[in-house]
Amino acid sequence: MAKLLVQNSGPLKGEVTISGAKNSVLPLMAACILGEETVTIKDVPELRDVKILTDVLTSIGAKVDKTEANTLEITTEEITSTEPDYDLFNKMRASILIMGPLLSRAGRAKLPMPGGCAIGARPIDLHLKGFKQMGAEITVTDTFIDAVAPEGGLHGARVYLDFPSVGATENIILAAVLANGTTYIENAAKEPEIIDLANLLNKMGARIKGAGTDSVKIEGVEKLHGTFHRVIPDRIELGTFMLAAAITRGEILIKNIVTDHVKPVIAKLEECGVEIELTDEGMVVNAVGKELTATDIKTLPYPGFPTDIQSPFMAFLSTVDGESTVQETVFENRFMHVAELNRMGANIKTQDRTAIIPGNKKLEGAQVIATDLRAGAAMVLAGLVADGTTEVSEIYHIDRGYEHFEEKFRKLGATIIRIED
Ligand code: EPZ
Repeated sequence: MAKLLVQNSGPLKGEVTISGAKNSVLPLMAACILGEETVTIKDVPELRDVKILTDVLTSIGAKVDKTEANTLEITTEEITSTEPDYDLFNKMRASILIMGPLLSRAGRAKLPMPGGCAIGARPIDLHLKGFKQMGAEITVTDTFIDAVAPEGGLHGARVYLDFPSVGATENIILAAVLANGTTYIENAAKEPEIIDLANLLNKMGARIKGAGTDSVKIEGVEKLHGTFHRVIPDRIELGTFMLAAAITRGEILIKNIVTDHVKPVIAKLEECGVEIELTDEGMVVNAVGKELTATDIKTLPYPGFPTDIQSPFMAFLSTVDGESTVQETVFENRFMHVAELNRMGANIKTQDRTAIIPGNKKLEGAQVIATDLRAGAAMVLAGLVADGTTEVSEIYHIDRGYEHFEEKFRKLGATIIRIED
């Protein structure tokens, strides 16, 4: 298995360009099976997850062509199977996003029960609640879920989400665009990726209003047509590089960004004493020579502090002056990286969903593992400032969601090399 060797690299300096958002491109790709005509998506990041979803889509009849770097052309003239390849499907939890469009376009979706993962059980009860309310008959066994739409297709419904789940909001929107009648989603997730998905679907001929608010209205239409779309920049990668400047006390210009998508991260870093300047080239994050101090973080659904930035931010808080707390309210088990940071001397304590970070730590290089995609990034950030060498394993997690990860860090002066076992 590949590993990353990270050396203490001093303050990172230079500029980096953010790639297209992983958590947007996946639902955008799923949307392409709703229409028969070609959809061209630009700024597609080169990620393991994109490759996996490409193979899943191909297994049900979509034609996916990479016509140039970072561009996909997806054409689904007909659905040839309503049972995606099980092995492929099980490689990535986000494959569940094809359930809504498959049910809507082909009237059936028979999928393996998605596995949980390191950060929690990650049920799909809210996805299924929406489909049931739209008329689907759903059979669930330990190994698979079989959803069948009624004769004539799904019908509109008013769906209340007990939790503003990103995936459930996306899946129900994808199921509703071709349904008979109008669907309302209440307590919907408001993440920017939901808006990006609605923008693509509306360009394909859908009629969606309210994406980005907690009430989304989808009027069903007969069919969708092809279009062009550019993926929004990845706000989580942006947050990761903001923290790279902060933790190394460096100065980085970050390009291809949407500032509004990271307001909580800007606010929290400024509370710690990091200087953030917005220029017409992008965002300059400057922590050179700054005495940085503690703060408290509480993760929340958007527009609150993003759970995906929690672990990289915790690595940073280990190095500032004073005690910080981090409360994780979105996932029930997203502190797996605490044990790894503690192997480097962070001395973090956890009580239920709150972590107490004493700070003022000179971290020591160690052998650590990436316990999820974002924790992997957190371990690399810690390795950049730890004494000695940090060896990060299980880095396939990082490859899932960060395009050209180590190249981008090396260009900023990081000493980081990938070794294949
Ligand atoms: C999306 O996951 C992202 N993934 C995650 O990013 C992100 O952390 C998460 O949203 C929250 O922002 C993609 O977009 C591909 P949820 P998703 O449904 O849709 C519970 C990363 O690192 N829940 O909003 O799975 C669930 O258990 C990844 O890029 C139910 O109870 O997140 C969790 O506690 C990690 N029932 C909470 O809601 C359901 O039916 C949030 O989950 C669905 C979810």
